[in-house]
Amino acid sequence: MPIRARAHLHKRRRAPLAALSAIALLWGSQPAIAQQADPLAPTGAWSANVDGAALTPPMGWNSWNAFFTDLDEEKVLASAQVIVDTGLAAKGYRYINLDEGWWQHRREDGRMLANTDRFPSTRTPDGATSFRPFTDRLHGMGLKAGLYSDLGRNTCAQAYMPDQTNLPRGTMTEREVGLYGHIDQDIGQFFDEWGFDYIKIDGCGLRAYGPESERVMSGQYRALDPILNLETVALSDIPAVKGLFGEVKTALMRYNPDNDFVLSLCIWGSAHVRAWAKDVGNVSRTSDDITPHWGRMLTNFDTAVTRELYAHPGSWNDPDMLFIGKGDFDADHLTEARSHFTLWAFLNAPLLIGSDLRDTPQPLMDIFGNSALIALNQDAGGHQAVLAFDTDDLQILVKTLADGDKAVAILNRSSAPVEATLTAAHMKLREDAAIATTDLWSGEGASFTGEMKVTVAPRETRAWRVRGSRALADGMYLSELPGQVNPAVDGVTVPEVDPTIHRAANFGTRGSGARPFYTGWGGARADSTPYGRVLQVAGHHFASGIGVLANSRLEVRNNGHRRFTASVGVDDSAQDADNEVTFALYGDGRLLARSEPLSRGMPAQELAADIAGVSLLELVARSGDAVTGQLSVTWGDAALVQR
Ligand code: GAL
Repeated sequence: MPIRARAHLHKRRRAPLAALSAIALLWGSQPAIAQQADPLAPTGAWSANVDGAALTPPMGWNSWNAFFTDLDEEKVLASAQVIVDTGLAAKGYRYINLDEGWWQHRREDGRMLANTDRFPSTRTPDGATSFRPFTDRLHGMGLKAGLYSDLGRNTCAQAYMPDQTNLPRGTMTEREVGLYGHIDQDIGQFFDEWGFDYIKIDGCGLRAYGPESERVMSGQYRALDPILNLETVALSDIPAVKGLFGEVKTALMRYNPDNDFVLSLCIWGSAHVRAWAKDVGNVSRTSDDITPHWGRMLTNFDTAVTRELYAHPGSWNDPDMLFIGKGDFDADHLTEARSHFTLWAFLNAPLLIGSDLRDTPQPLMDIFGNSALIALNQDAGGHQAVLAFDTDDLQILVKTLADGDKAVAILNRSSAPVEATLTAAHMKLREDAAIATTDLWSGEGASFTGEMKVTVAPRETRAWRVRGSRALADGMYLSELPGQVNPAVDGVTVPEVDPTIHRAANFGTRGSGARPFYTGWGGARADSTPYGRVLQVAGHHFASGIGVLANSRLEVRNNGHRRFTASVGVDDSAQDADNEVTFALYGDGRLLARSEPLSRGMPAQELAADIAGVSLLELVARSGDAVTGQLSVTWGDAALVQR
């Protein structure tokens, strides 16, 4: 729902955020007791989510951006048919997802009923309704079926949609169609009985139905004390929200023993979800809704682009669905439409088409069908692109592919052309050896040595697949492998607002403007400190490395390398000059190497160990409890090598 439509609600202060780090540890497969005792103790286990069917980002179609709540079976199946007929299904677009607008109401016994007027195939002789014929039809077409619900009792459209024509009908309790109080029953009905494969779970029911909200005061809806607040993280009850998603996950595991499910979290970057969704779900929205405006697309892009270490096979950042087909991304704006698609591919975002495919112009269909970009998005390595160059006007993104190739995108965010220079160093390639490039839009091949000059038109994103000689010949920097690095404990104890996210004005100029409110500032980063500075220890600059706060534990999957090397130290940008930090490396739970206690200003210390045969490394940076101010630490040049 658009921000402007969302009322600011009175909220009561909830559980103190100091509880956050302790609660964060309860997620994942680590033993909870050991975690509570010492969150930095090695576990020997990868804790980011791997359950569900999302080893690569989900691809498909969703009804919302095309139809909002005005959806029906004919519209959905027509788009599904186009996906099959045009070959998009064969290219990976498989999920056909119903967003809000499918329900009739909840029966007294708790059973959810589908809207049989809108979805005639759900009609059953006993009135119980069933989506089984619908999902059978999609499955018969070689597709998968997705459904939508809310974690609260009521929904977003009930709260915010001005068009009330297709809302749940009936008494107050019949209109309570959200999962709240019915998680196990609903998930069983949707997956086991109806045969759905994917669920998107919204959060408006946890946000918009406070006792003083207009809709509750009017007597239409039952009050639910808000536990989510998009604008103010301190007003969200993070443990409670996590707990509810945990219940959903448990139910999904129970009703999908074949693991064929996708859990999509849709709480728009609130409740500090950008730090913990990776532990419970398959995709998670990092921001409020995208709209078909260039500025808003940039906002959504920004909420995911610095979260490269929080996305892995099994759990992806979701900057929202594609809005190609409307406004700044329609057929008259192919530059912008191609940029939008390119950026989503580089982010490893879900590729969910949001246009009415019955009349989508061919040039836009061609964008969805760009096989080279789909291949990047679906690359088995699962590495989200990393920012190699970052300014407000121009950004360069580099993504490592499973076969060792790289992909590079240059985004011109501005309204004037930019002369960009792409260097071998941006890609961590040697500057004295030829670099072969393939343009991902034209297919044209070329080659350069050292650097290449490129003109990037306003709002254009140029993109190539490249192959050259690696600067680090016999290994990989961890910052090239974000899909293998999981910030299990990132050291953030009090969520902070990220000031770097574009604040678009597309909702008009009433009020005081768009304030920064997406938390995640201070999270672990590739080739950057947690606060966007260059990595630097005692004056020595590291072009490669991982930046993270002290009191953190990073899990790293080793894929057959023999040695770990790094230069570790407290970053020069740390505010805390007094506390010492000890760096330790563990392999499958065993201590392999440990640094001296280091404080700011001391030179980086080598930390290396043999890791042959080790499958999971843990990189722990530990300092005392009395950290004063930001204590950024640097795993400089951290790499997995063969030597
Ligand atoms: C929003 C969500 C949208 C869409 C809408 C339905 O909260 O972000 O993607 O699902 O609700 O009402």
